[in-house]
Amino acid sequence: MIILGIESSCDDTAAAVIENGKVVSSVVSSQDLLHQRFGGVVPELASRRHMEAVTVVVEEALKQAGFSLAQIELICVTQGPGLIGSLLVGFSYAKSLSFTLGIPFVGVDHMAGHLLSAFLEKDVPDFPFIALIVSGGTTALFKVDDYLEFILLGATRDDAAGEAFDKISRYLKLGYPGGPHVSRHAEYGDPAFLKLPRAWLEEGSLDFSFSGLKTSVLNHCNTLRMSETLTDQRIDDVCASFQQAVVEVLVEKAIQAARIYDLETIVLGGGVSANRILREQMTIGCSEKGITLCLPAIENCTDNAAMIAFAGSKMFEFGVRGNFDDDVFSRSHLGR
Ligand code: KG4
Repeated sequence: MIILGIESSCDDTAAAVIENGKVVSSVVSSQDLLHQRFGGVVPELASRRHMEAVTVVVEEALKQAGFSLAQIELICVTQGPGLIGSLLVGFSYAKSLSFTLGIPFVGVDHMAGHLLSAFLEKDVPDFPFIALIVSGGTTALFKVDDYLEFILLGATRDDAAGEAFDKISRYLKLGYPGGPHVSRHAEYGDPAFLKLPRAWLEEGSLDFSFSGLKTSVLNHCNTLRMSETLTDQRIDDVCASFQQAVVEVLVEKAIQAARIYDLETIVLGGGVSANRILREQMTIGCSEKGITLCLPAIENCTDNAAMIAFAGSKMFEFGVRGNFDDDVFSRSHLGR
């Protein structure tokens, strides 16, 4: 089956073609430059840019795949969660294509895409497994029992990990999106420079909390700034200390989830899983505990339409069909 995937939940316009479960093309048009000067995504600008980009990105994905629109048999599109204006662009576009071509469409929860992104790789995980999804909008642990069977084990109670990276980067004026900038500075810093809190929460809790850590980092930065000692080296040290605090909690909680549910596989997903230290420490932590770690390629971890096409194809197999009066949603209830 030849499937077109479309994703526009936040600030990336993406389209992909998959054929019989294999990715044939995957195109992402990033809006990073557009939002850079604001230090975060401006929803109105994001939707307008999606409107300009969506046709171009879909045509490019088809061209790279060597297919015409007439050959597409199913359209899978992100229905939520995300920014309503952004979602509406991709979702309405997919509905119109579906109507015009007379083919079905399926609305996909963006989180399901991340949870199944490991299936875009050559070596796929066996069910059941623990998935840690860490992005700019989410930090959550799931138990994945089958393609469409997800149980939410824990989620952030405040900031997502990526959001904390972005806010610290904005404060230090390092650039947007913050994660890659903070992690680059962290490469030259001392992770033991600041003693920062780790929010382990109640005994056995698989929830996360990053806002206390973020506030603590900002307070330290204010103190350094007031004493005029926030030098380039200190900025690197602050970034390294912050990154270490985030990574430690992510690794420990993912391994704890595997232990509690007696599972042998952990899958990582979401934009923050591009972080080198997270990948490295997760690899070490899992190998020490005899856990198999699936680390999808970075382009499959960040927002993309191939994961949406794949998740939608499984929903279609299980009988799910989109209706023209379906609407987008801003919050996910997946696995609850
Ligand atoms: O999943 P994603 O591409 O988009 C959504 O959140 O929807 O994730 C983007 C997030 C941003 O917060 C970005 O700062 C973070 O992932 N990120 C990173 C790194 N690369 C991207 N965070 C830490 N280290 C990185 N290397």
